[in-house]
Amino acid sequence: MSEPGRIIAFDGLDGAGKSLQARRLATRLSERGLDVKVFREPGGTPLGERLRDVLLEGGDIAGDPLLEGLLFSASRRALTLSSLAPRKACGAWSLLDRSFLSTLVYQGLVGGVDLEFLEGMTREVHGEAFPDRILVLDVSPELASQRRRVRSAEDMDAFEGRGEEYLRRVGEAYRFLASNHSDLCVRIDAEGSIEEVSGRCYEAVKDLLAGAVP
Ligand code: TYD
Repeated sequence: MSEPGRIIAFDGLDGAGKSLQARRLATRLSERGLDVKVFREPGGTPLGERLRDVLLEGGDIAGDPLLEGLLFSASRRALTLSSLAPRKACGAWSLLDRSFLSTLVYQGLVGGVDLEFLEGMTREVHGEAFPDRILVLDVSPELASQRRRVRSAEDMDAFEGRGEEYLRRVGEAYRFLASNHSDLCVRIDAEGSIEEVSGRCYEAVKDLLAGAVP
């Protein structure tokens, strides 16, 4: 029987470089012969993409962190059932662009929803297909804002554009959770060049390759 596939998540502030680094790691792991796919959260399934539209538009649900947390979790559950669990079972690897850590940060520590409740729900949502590692890309709020300004203002979603003070709180929440879950999370200095940061990401997951590649 083949080794179970791994699930690796990228998390951190908007502008930290998650999507780019997830794609780069996927390429590098594919070159080692692994079956790798990147999924975004929220999203990654037809239901998840519809929830993504609802969540990122803001509108009716903006401002109720509990409702947001439930919908992000619903999207995550759909992704677990349709892709994460079956891929893990057949030895394929899944990389996540954001994870439940975002829910603990934005809806929990920043939004005020009870953290234990969210953590309990997360365990149910993922079941056996729980992330093996979360790379928390750490950048200053100033650099995150600067990188995001390169994107057009129209690209801003309901969670972005809330100002640097908000970003600072989000960044602190990530640091707090990363050190409290040090068995799961690795904090990555994401302020270097693209090459440097992708090297750090690869180093942080290299041990998971044992048994998976010749
Ligand atoms: P993201 O996918 O990073 O959007 P984009 O790639 O378009 O920048 O995430 C969108 C927003 O959703 C982000 O600002 C954080 C928020 N979010 C939460 O608040 N909770 C969650 O559980 C997740 C997954 C995202």
